[in-house]
Amino acid sequence: MENEKYIVFALCKGRLAFKTLELLEKIGITCEEMYDKETRKLVFVNEDLKLKFFLAKGPDVPTYVEYGAADIGVVGSDIILEENRRVYEVLDLGFGKCRMCVCGPESAKELLKHRERIRVATKYPTIAKDYFFNRKNQTVDIIKLNGSVELGPIVGLSDVIVDIVETGSTLRENGLDVLEEICPLSARVIVNRVSMKMQNERICDIIDKLKAELERG
Ligand code: PRP
Repeated sequence: MENEKYIVFALCKGRLAFKTLELLEKIGITCEEMYDKETRKLVFVNEDLKLKFFLAKGPDVPTYVEYGAADIGVVGSDIILEENRRVYEVLDLGFGKCRMCVCGPESAKELLKHRERIRVATKYPTIAKDYFFNRKNQTVDIIKLNGSVELGPIVGLSDVIVDIVETGSTLRENGLDVLEEICPLSARVIVNRVSMKMQNERICDIIDKLKAELERG
């Protein structure tokens, strides 16, 4: 075990990280250090299991995994679709379920129906472009925002938004509706392409245990 390489996990900061740690704990993968809320540490180690963990901003997780700075990443499929990195997607964890949707005021339905050249505000320009240009054959103007995208139609920046809908309460509270559904989303496990070959046994073992736990669960 002494010379064995660490397997490195990149997790998304926030809700998804807690859910992921809960699941990993069930298959015997723990990291005590990570539960310390006061800590400013960025990388957490489990020496016994030769594992390392770090938390990153969601869109950066596939980047760390593509370049091999992390062997395994857990991230939402929205980010996988948007970032389009060269990684293997190996498992759907089934939590973090939500939908990517076109949303807006009721009145925007007509604009969509007639394929008007509308303005679309979104944190997900790649997904929005693919949906409108390739799937719908509709020319639109995409406006990239970094959050609180629902503001777009409310303050007159855009006609519609492309965004994640989970409970729908953000839309409801702001007088917007789901107008079209683009795709369902959930948390996924991604693996670096080289790690998959080099550390195959240890990584496959982790993936198999996760699969079995999900099936039990
Ligand atoms: C996400 C998303 C919606 C909201 C949807 O935003 O962009 O705004 O959650 O959830 P709901 O359907 O349960 O209301 P997030 O909280 O990640 O923040 P952001 O708006 O800054 O992107």
